[in-house]
Amino acid sequence: MQAVIDFLKQNESRFVNELCEYVRFPSVSAQPQHRADMKACGDWVVEHCQQIGLEAQLCPTSGHPIVLAKTPRHGKNGRPHFLVYGHYDVQPPEPFELWKTPPFEPRIEGRSLFGRGACDNKGQNLAHLKAIEAYFKTGTELPCDLTFVIEGEEEVGSASLATFLKERQSELKCDAVVISDTGMPAKNCPALTYALRGIAAFEIVLHGPARDLHSGIFGGTVDNPAMALSQLLAQLRDPDGRVAIPGFYDDVKPLSDYERQQFARLPFTDEQYRQMLGVPKLFGEKGYTPFEQRSARPTLEINGLTSGYQGEGSKTIVPAWARVKITTRLVPDQSPGKIIQLVTEHLKKICPPTVRMEIQSGHGAEPYLVSPTGTHAKAALRALKAAFGSEPIVMREGGSIPIVNDFKRILGVDTLLLGLALPDDNAHSPNEKFDLDCFAKGQLMAAHLWQELTKS
Ligand code: BES
Ligand code: MN
Repeated sequence: MQAVIDFLKQNESRFVNELCEYVRFPSVSAQPQHRADMKACGDWVVEHCQQIGLEAQLCPTSGHPIVLAKTPRHGKNGRPHFLVYGHYDVQPPEPFELWKTPPFEPRIEGRSLFGRGACDNKGQNLAHLKAIEAYFKTGTELPCDLTFVIEGEEEVGSASLATFLKERQSELKCDAVVISDTGMPAKNCPALTYALRGIAAFEIVLHGPARDLHSGIFGGTVDNPAMALSQLLAQLRDPDGRVAIPGFYDDVKPLSDYERQQFARLPFTDEQYRQMLGVPKLFGEKGYTPFEQRSARPTLEINGLTSGYQGEGSKTIVPAWARVKITTRLVPDQSPGKIIQLVTEHLKKICPPTVRMEIQSGHGAEPYLVSPTGTHAKAALRALKAAFGSEPIVMREGGSIPIVNDFKRILGVDTLLLGLALPDDNAHSPNEKFDLDCFAKGQLMAAHLWQELTKS
């Protein structure tokens, strides 16, 4: 192992340059104009894997291609097999004007590498690849077989990956999945995440008059869809910050005292959190701490809201329609299907007869929860400690990785979530970054992980 550790240290600056190369691809899965960039980025990852010594190929799908890379098996049978998952697609970089430097021109400042996708998820999956490179280039034997699945549709709901898992079920059969695509509370506080929130997305359109109308001539005689929608939305939360939809909380598992005690020990202060987010005062469901609210309680959020005239100056109209994009984040044991149904029924009930409502449901993912005390979890905690030199914590995360439930359903295995992103890494925001110490320690963690997971 010392040779692996030394190799990682000696090659640190080359690895940073390689991450810059990776970040330079504008691999935005949501935007059709980046289709060719997606393919080029997938090709780059495949070639990189091959240079390291993995057997890699780019697998076409009906959407964006998936990188599949394996450690050579040399006919050794019956060894433990782990699957490492990551994604090379990134969120749209807009709004461009808020980036200090362009999102796909990586820039290093201090110990931060700025660029869209730096932490979510390019830096994190590259850390795993670098650990394997260190094993191969130093001739150190890996104690297990590894398969890397690095997809291009995570940020748009992973539609092609479930089919891919089903098609290759026997080839991908493994002991556990490892993912570094979540966060850690602070540089000196590594974390094992044992729960993720699920998600249910939908859009509501309220249709009013057949066309935009002169608000002076007609205003006052017809309902205004933007007003009606605002009133409808305002009814969806109560003064205590709870989602006011009957039955919404029915399936929520209460937090155990043990979990609440664990969360209370996290290096997380409300005031620092408030400052980091730039809000005048925090807001959230009464009776829960901000950490609990963001990871273990369900929410309903407006993600986008539009109606009427958005250009310069004024335009006196009653708009023909108003539209809102909403996602709810779900916790165990809520299910996206049931939540969409509850929301739809409730909205139909409270919708006034003066507008016509259309509801379109979008992507969904189940929440995820696994015990943080199993053998694999314990091994992962040892690897985190060895790499970061401080005691790791176990925690829940508020984001979603839709595919983890498919790994469970299709491959029958649990996922170890070993995230390397810091709270101020700006995932999905302008000026996304990845901390280069987290990058280096993440590589070390990945190197230790295979030793720890295969210790009997
Ligand atoms: N890496 C995130 C998920 C994440 C971030 C989990 C932080 C826990 C903590 C992932 O890339 C992501 O953004 N997922 C989307 C999924 C959605 C598009 C279905 C999300 O959570 O919004
Ligand atoms: Mn993301």
